[in-house]
Amino acid sequence: MAVIGSDIRVFQDPEALSQAAAAIFAETANQAIAERGEFRVALSGGKTPERMYALLAQSPHRELIDWHRLHAFWGDERCVPPEDLHSNYRQIRDILLSHVPVPLENIHRVRTELDPGPAAEDYARVLRRNADPPLEWPRFDLVLLGLGEDGHTASLFPGSPMQTTRATLAVALQGEGRQSWRVTMTPAVFNSGRRVVFLVLGAGKSRIVASVLHGETKPDKLPAQRIQPEAGELIWMLDAGAAANS
Ligand code: 6PG
Repeated sequence: MAVIGSDIRVFQDPEALSQAAAAIFAETANQAIAERGEFRVALSGGKTPERMYALLAQSPHRELIDWHRLHAFWGDERCVPPEDLHSNYRQIRDILLSHVPVPLENIHRVRTELDPGPAAEDYARVLRRNADPPLEWPRFDLVLLGLGEDGHTASLFPGSPMQTTRATLAVALQGEGRQSWRVTMTPAVFNSGRRVVFLVLGAGKSRIVASVLHGETKPDKLPAQRIQPEAGELIWMLDAGAAANS
């Protein structure tokens, strides 16, 4: 895939990457608040961003951001109750949001107490209420994304249906002999973002990073290749392990 236009930053270790990611988060927040009065972010689950979220909850980042002006959305969510250990909402609430003064009404979680299809439709309505017309969703100031070893990002998995005109999808997953569900924003939403940042850590991801960034273009198999912001900035942040094959 063409990497022209993407900004690939390599850090010596996970801590350096997390520190730099927290700094980008704070800088993007401050710029958005200065220019538009609020900061709207699509957050990512997974283990990779946990240290960045923890750093944001501490000094000096905690004091650098006007948290009252942050609007938190989830790029994807697992269809489990909001208190479940696997909930992306619970994860980020516990690590970050409960430690900073974000107004409750600015926390826009996926209502996983609904069935997956209705939860996806409900979240599309939430996005519509916060839309930047002519888009039917917000033009996010920052979209945070991770990368799975199979090339997925958010909950856009290889072979998942991609109805790109919709804002959200309910996606069924097969694993460990049972089906589970996710709700995810679609590439159309991510690609309208002003700044889109992938965070990827570890040698275990080095092959897939190389395939997504430098391999053949095959977005059905490598959904992360669908992320190409139309008028925004794309930044890949990798540690040395994840960059080893690039
Ligand atoms: C999720 C994510 C998912 C994640 C990747 C990478 O809810 O799990 O949004 O897309 O970012 O699977 O996960 P790790 O950071 O745990 O490797």
